[in-house]
Amino acid sequence: MDKYVIKGGRALSGTVRAQGSKNAVLPMIPAALLVDGTTVFRGVPGITDIHTISAVMESLGAGVGFVDGTLSIDSTSVDNQTAPYDLVRRMRASICVLGPLLARYGYAKVSLPGGCSFGPRPVDLHLKAMEALGADVRLEGGYVIAEAKKLKGAKVYLAGPAGPSRGATANLMTAACLAEGTTVIEEAAREPETVDLADLLIAMGAEIEGAGTNEITINGVKNLKPVEYEPMSDQIEAGTLLVCGVASGGSVRVGGADVEYLTPFLECLYEMGIEISSDNDSITAESSGRARPVVVHSKPYPGFPTDLQPQLMAAAALAEGRSVFVEGIYPDRFNQVPELVRLGADIRVEGNTAIVDGVKNYAGATVMASDIRAGAALVIAGLAAEGETHVRRIYHIDRGYEDLEGKLRSLGAEIERIAE
Ligand code: UD1
Repeated sequence: MDKYVIKGGRALSGTVRAQGSKNAVLPMIPAALLVDGTTVFRGVPGITDIHTISAVMESLGAGVGFVDGTLSIDSTSVDNQTAPYDLVRRMRASICVLGPLLARYGYAKVSLPGGCSFGPRPVDLHLKAMEALGADVRLEGGYVIAEAKKLKGAKVYLAGPAGPSRGATANLMTAACLAEGTTVIEEAAREPETVDLADLLIAMGAEIEGAGTNEITINGVKNLKPVEYEPMSDQIEAGTLLVCGVASGGSVRVGGADVEYLTPFLECLYEMGIEISSDNDSITAESSGRARPVVVHSKPYPGFPTDLQPQLMAAAALAEGRSVFVEGIYPDRFNQVPELVRLGADIRVEGNTAIVDGVKNYAGATVMASDIRAGAALVIAGLAAEGETHVRRIYHIDRGYEDLEGKLRSLGAEIERIAE
């Protein structure tokens, strides 16, 4: 197991570029099951989650090649429709093979992913979506088994208690491409990653309208063709890198960062007194002294992204005054809190709300990552801390960030990866 050793207190400065989007490409890879032949993705980040979904695809019989950010998926030889527990438990997004397998082969058996470290994450909407297309869906021995001779288009209302589901929208949109007739997804996820998936499917020959709005219409087609595709850049990584700069007291420019995607996040930075500037292809965030407190409420897109909540909290814990973070998607997503407190933060959690009373400094300590973004929050705190911070269990961070330490070093950070 590796850990990061960070010598804090250096103001970061310079330019880095965002990687390809993890959350865009993860549901795209299973979409390669819809075609015979090789689908090629360019600009794919070398992160563990990509290796996991690739292993799922290999377990189904697909040929997978990954060289220098180019990922090729050859679905010609797929001969198995079961995604096993051992792979699916490592990453929930594996559930995204459900729709494509069912649409193409009429059968899918996918392990239930279970909860995760920040609370229960049900898959009821995924199952509802497949049932709406006419599939017979049952749970057996910890697996979802879905069967249908031919999927049939339907109108599906897809929101759950916290709003739309990105994963269920991806599964339904992908499956509906090969269904008979028209599917309408009401309360569809509106994230740019959903639009990117729709664009991939359209390039493959699918007929999709409305992606990016809350109603997506898909007219089923007989077959699709393999294509080459480059996913959007990773806005969550971009936001993380901007916060790294801000919390360190420096100024960081991130290429590939998108103002439209990040607007609610940038508004929070602005409220904190951070100077923001942007051009067509980049955003710069510059700290100017101690930050002001902020109120953050995570919501589905176009709201503040839950995937940037822990990182921004790590910066707000150093602000002058009380910040409030309300988690609108995962009520228990506060894994970073006890570890930030170990570094000297003053944070109290009440239900889905964290009350953050700003302190002047973090003091370096040993802490432990427990999920991707909570891990990133600890790195941010470590960059700002006085003294040395050891962040253990960084395999969580490796799930979503390619060479985070390399990027931070290029900005002037003192951070090393050490094998424990
Ligand atoms: C995606 C992102 C993840 C992000 C999350 C919320 C990927 C690969 N992952 O996860 O990084 O944190 O969106 O923005 O894109 N829900 C149900 N029933 C379901 C499915 C979801 O109630 O069947 C609930 C969830 O518990 C959650 C909300 O709906 O409260 C949104 O979840 P969803 O959008 O499905 O998240 P993921 O697609 O799993």
